[in-house]
Amino acid sequence: MTVGAADRLVVEPGGTLRGRIRVPGDKSISHRVLLLAALADGESTIRGLSDGGDVAHTRAIIEALGATVVDDFDHADLLELPVIRVRGGRLGEAGHDLDVGNSGTGIRLLAGLLAGLPFTSVLDGDASIRRRPMGRVLEPLRAMGASVTGSGVDTGEGAGLAPLNIRGGGLRGIEYRLPVASAQVKGCLLFAGLSADGSTTVIEERPTRAHTEELMAATGIEIVRSHTDGLDRVTVSPGRPNAFTHDVAGDPSHAAFWAVGASILPGSEVVVENVYDGPGRSGFVKVLARMGADLNHDPGSGDLIVRAPAGGVLSATTVRSDEVPGLVDEVPILAVAAACAEGETLFEGVGELRVKESDRLATVESELGRMGADIRVEGDRLVVRGRPSGRLRGAMVDAHHDHRIAMSCAVAGLVADGPTDIGGWDVVATSYPTFAEHRAALVDAGSTTGSGV
Ligand code: S3P
Repeated sequence: MTVGAADRLVVEPGGTLRGRIRVPGDKSISHRVLLLAALADGESTIRGLSDGGDVAHTRAIIEALGATVVDDFDHADLLELPVIRVRGGRLGEAGHDLDVGNSGTGIRLLAGLLAGLPFTSVLDGDASIRRRPMGRVLEPLRAMGASVTGSGVDTGEGAGLAPLNIRGGGLRGIEYRLPVASAQVKGCLLFAGLSADGSTTVIEERPTRAHTEELMAATGIEIVRSHTDGLDRVTVSPGRPNAFTHDVAGDPSHAAFWAVGASILPGSEVVVENVYDGPGRSGFVKVLARMGADLNHDPGSGDLIVRAPAGGVLSATTVRSDEVPGLVDEVPILAVAAACAEGETLFEGVGELRVKESDRLATVESELGRMGADIRVEGDRLVVRGRPSGRLRGAMVDAHHDHRIAMSCAVAGLVADGPTDIGGWDVVATSYPTFAEHRAALVDAGSTTGSGV
């Protein structure tokens, strides 16, 4: 592998992946612990926060709102996990627009938090953020009595694009059934609910990741969860979190790249240490297991252990729409696994991928297509016909400003017949700045030792 200028990565094919790595702290959890620490009166300690650009933007925003954040280099442990201390509880108007960068989670969670606070804020982000639908949070926030406006044209969910103008305060608790399965919308309403005049209930038909409610409950907020008539309900009571200490586990969405890489490269064996294992995040493990992958998520250590399958090749599967919320970010890398599997894999009900950092149905089809994968979009389904040889074609591809497309192409490049040249590589820094180093370490260990694990 050659690392070129920061905006390109050239991937040489071949080798095996061997070794142990620790991926950055979970991005979804990192955003949420920063917001909770900003609201908590007192000092919170967070270890292993994501070092990606998205979370750095959220950190800068809570600082602009008045939280104090210090890096505690003295207490960074032997594993060199970052430790930060956050002093929150007294937030006020920033006096300038708040820039979430590329982060859909950042803008939607912050919209909820700020809708409850009695001052005016403007949330904005990069070109991709300005294209993504915000009506899905603006509409229920208005139902809570919030004064929130978006910009731009109607996106199909009511006029609502960033920048968002939020005049906070005066919220009432509501009961709201999510029209789209979205943990970002659920999280937005639960953060708003902390400042409402009564309880707020979010109802889900298809359960999504539960980080907001798990972390709120762990920091002393009253959360009630129930499951009746096939629906999940989560109710938050108004209040403020207590200051807390939290160790952020490794990001399963990052681990998924190595799980697929080790499953398609014969002879591989990878351990990803301390990966978060909770509701709504481990769907990719189940799907890969169904495809014949040899992987085990150790419940004690959290380590995800993946070996190349004894039979050599994965087999196709159908990913049902009810499984999608639990693996929504892993569809691009699972499409790489499917492209190397025997048979035709279907991803059903994946329309939400159209409104991610890129239109991921289009970008998966075009970029993996350039690499010779037989992929087509049929309505809200993605159909991938695996290549019997298991090999793809080295090609010039583009990230389309989407970190997960860039990293999926980098893994696909390992099983190509020549170099894969990925343009727009620098977008990977939004979530996983050390991806290329981790990849080089695993490939090198695979080429120089019989066993790197
Ligand atoms: C996230 C939820 C998902 C996911 C995103 C992170 C979160 O989005 O795609 O990367 O942290 O809540 P949706 O909830 O909009 O599906």
